[in-house]
Amino acid sequence: MIRKCLFPVAGYGTRFLPATKSMPKEMLPIVNKPLVQYGVEEAEAAGLNNVTFVTGRGKRAIADHFDISYELEHQISGTSKEKYLDGIRHLIDNVNFSFIRQNNMLGLGHAILTGESLIGDEAFGVVLADDLCFGESDEEDGVMAQMVKLYNQFRCTIVAIEEVPEDEVHKYGIIKGESMMDGLYRVTDMVEKPSKEEAPSNLAIIGRYILTPDIFDKIRNTPAGRNGEVQITDAILQQAKEGCVLAYKFKGKRFDCGSVDGFVEATNYCYQNIYKDPTEA
Ligand code: G1P
Repeated sequence: MIRKCLFPVAGYGTRFLPATKSMPKEMLPIVNKPLVQYGVEEAEAAGLNNVTFVTGRGKRAIADHFDISYELEHQISGTSKEKYLDGIRHLIDNVNFSFIRQNNMLGLGHAILTGESLIGDEAFGVVLADDLCFGESDEEDGVMAQMVKLYNQFRCTIVAIEEVPEDEVHKYGIIKGESMMDGLYRVTDMVEKPSKEEAPSNLAIIGRYILTPDIFDKIRNTPAGRNGEVQITDAILQQAKEGCVLAYKFKGKRFDCGSVDGFVEATNYCYQNIYKDPTEA
């Protein structure tokens, strides 16, 4: 059983300055909900009821968001506005949240290693909240739930992938794999942010992972890679070389909310397809 999900949220969000000067980028709203809440909802829907945030300076708003606001509860209790809090109340009631600080930002691998003491010796999910993902429809599984099902079958590290245009491979971890079945590959190589020429394919890792706990030792033994950072991609490649790592072409949609274009696209998509005013019948 996978019960835990790690959210690395220490990054600065420089692309959204000045909005992110004193507000965590993960709290930017996509219509009426902070970006990170969509990720937590996806994790909870997949049965991952223990959420660990690897946070940093200036991120306290995230901890406050996933806690009760007594003043607000008091103000709106018994009014029609209470409905606006249904979603977040559900998460607060059903998810355990824990927080650990990443003091130095030394890369995604380092962020994940920082969470080790709260994860322990079990497989866990990782959600990069910048990648906003939806399943094929309301009734279908979200991306993390799809991956949990696969994990239950194969019991190894799994990364979510999608095809990207050739001129965007430099933004992602790119895998090389042998096709096992429709949409599922066994990883034989992975390169973090390769040039077009170096890229072994156009299958890009997106921000959803299920990692087996041996990843922590692998990260410890991973030297700084691309951009001088400890890359999770390099640590997962070690797992692939010694055992099995799967890459899964997920079913659904994904928006890169780390970029302004992706953020606006996601906003339009959510407004048209997801958002419902809870006070309207
Ligand atoms: C990270 C990972 C990269 C992955 C990407 C997905 O990069 O290092 O392998 O493809 O997330 O969003 P970042 O976007 O944090 O630079």
